[in-house]
Amino acid sequence: MRRVRDLGSGSDAERARLAARGEGCPLVDFDGGSTPYIDYQSITVLLSLQQPRSEEPAELPFYILGQVKELLFKLLYEELTRVRALLDADEVPQAVWLLRRVRKVADLLCSTWDVLGSLAPTEFNAFRDSLGKASGLQSYMYRMVEYVLGNKDPVLARPHQGVPGVAEQVRAALEEPSVYDAAVALLARRGAPIPPAALRPEPARTHEPSDEIEHAWAGVYAAGRGPGDELFLLAEALMDVAEAMCRWRALHLLTVERIIGTKPGTGGTHGVAWLRRVSEHRFFPELWSARGRL
Ligand code: HEM
Repeated sequence: MRRVRDLGSGSDAERARLAARGEGCPLVDFDGGSTPYIDYQSITVLLSLQQPRSEEPAELPFYILGQVKELLFKLLYEELTRVRALLDADEVPQAVWLLRRVRKVADLLCSTWDVLGSLAPTEFNAFRDSLGKASGLQSYMYRMVEYVLGNKDPVLARPHQGVPGVAEQVRAALEEPSVYDAAVALLARRGAPIPPAALRPEPARTHEPSDEIEHAWAGVYAAGRGPGDELFLLAEALMDVAEAMCRWRALHLLTVERIIGTKPGTGGTHGVAWLRRVSEHRFFPELWSARGRL
């Protein structure tokens, strides 16, 4: 088992004392065969996890960017479950504050396509065969993000059902209420006339668009309400996240189109045609459709 080295604990006084003693120069002498930074971030473990399957130089940026995205999906998922808990607890300003960070993480994910878009088709094709049937479609962290946001397609949980330790997490994300369910339930608690059937008693079901929910969101934007109203701020913070995630999908589609054109994917789909269809989906659908009523 990997040893987790005790980092001790710091304090402002201790840091001031060290800086004064070393006249502001960096600490460069450590014993114990490691550094506190290596230990804190598990750097040696992290940097041992890049195992491209070919000798092609362009596989390394593809591989590392894929891992970066997985870490950011994980962060998104964890933060979104906290947003859901805050909404359940009626702590709207705290949820809005956290959604601000979620949006920044989604923006960061979008910017990763700039690096992947720098791969020429010939560079990608040089290592593509070594991926076999591996596809981002099988990313369970991404699937959990889609589920916690409310896009629940149970078929896409199937690749993970035989994977110990993963199947349970994906199943839980599918069955737990989404951030959107929590936001709609909050609207109902604040007096919006949303019938219980529209509050999704079976969270694993695909969300059916509801007129009542659309009306409720339209009410949040009604005349006289605005940035001084916490539900208005929540609606816009949710839209920021929905838009950023839709942008991630759209940039994926564009990047894939410029790299493989009309070729099929490694995960079994027709490729761009499939990605184009999933890109049309909107998270928090009634928040989008309500705009047509304003
Ligand atoms: C740059 C080269 C890439 C190409 C050519 C590509 C291509 C594709 C294609 C064709 C699909 C459709 C499923 C299939 O048949 O495979 C797909 C799905 C997907 N890819 Fe990529 N991809 C690339 C990079 C990435 C990276 C780096 C990630 C991040 C981990 C990623 C994440 C995903 C996800 C999450 C899906 C499923 C989307 C959904 O369910 O809505 N892709 N990709």
